[in-house]
Amino acid sequence: MIIAIDGPSGAGKSSVSKLVATELGFACLDTGAMYRSVAWQAVHDGVALDDNEALGKLARTYDIEFEHEPGNPSPIGVFIGGNDVTLAIRTLEIDRAVSPVSAAPAVREALVAQQQRIGRAGNYVVEGRDIGTVVFPDAEVKVFLTASDEARARRRVLQNEQRGVGSTDFEEVLADIIRRDTADSTRATSPLKPADDAVHIDSSDMTIEEVVEAICDLARKAQG
Ligand code: DC
Repeated sequence: MIIAIDGPSGAGKSSVSKLVATELGFACLDTGAMYRSVAWQAVHDGVALDDNEALGKLARTYDIEFEHEPGNPSPIGVFIGGNDVTLAIRTLEIDRAVSPVSAAPAVREALVAQQQRIGRAGNYVVEGRDIGTVVFPDAEVKVFLTASDEARARRRVLQNEQRGVGSTDFEEVLADIIRRDTADSTRATSPLKPADDAVHIDSSDMTIEEVVEAICDLARKAQG
């Protein structure tokens, strides 16, 4: 079974995906981490962020791998071309570079094919922007998770504090979230938009447990 969770940055997709996967015994696939890894590689190799062909070649050439530990549905490490980029992909520099990289059609083509291969190998909670629309249009459960701009910025600051990487300045994070939403929603290839059959959940005034329960209920109903 595939549970597709799409939505803007900071809506709580990662935390929710991990808890849903734990409760149901599924694995997690964070597709944003894959776009971030290619963005990291582009910055590392000095590839122009508007060069579709060169960016696509990076995505096709360098293997992205996730390191797992037993009993944890979320990977504890992310690697591209053998380099550990677990923390390096969470910096503000990569927050900025990932918008043009994820807008490149050649990158999307390469990563979507990898995501489909990974996800269909088992039971996965897959989070991203185009999972219910493009990657798994036949996913058994589709959720579009949103929250107010301020709620999302507050959560991202907290997450950055916990990880010890990325900005912890509320105004800076809020501005970046709004900038990224605009870029993600207005790009020509696979813009962020809910699938017609997605269930919308606004998490602004919900606890994470309530969101997780709502999604697990949908999954149990879909399982029959
Ligand atoms: O979920 P995130 O913030 O880690 O995602 C990083 C960027 O990658 C985000 O700006 C949008 C892009 N992205 C995408 O275009 N498609 C996906 N399926 C996942 C992420």
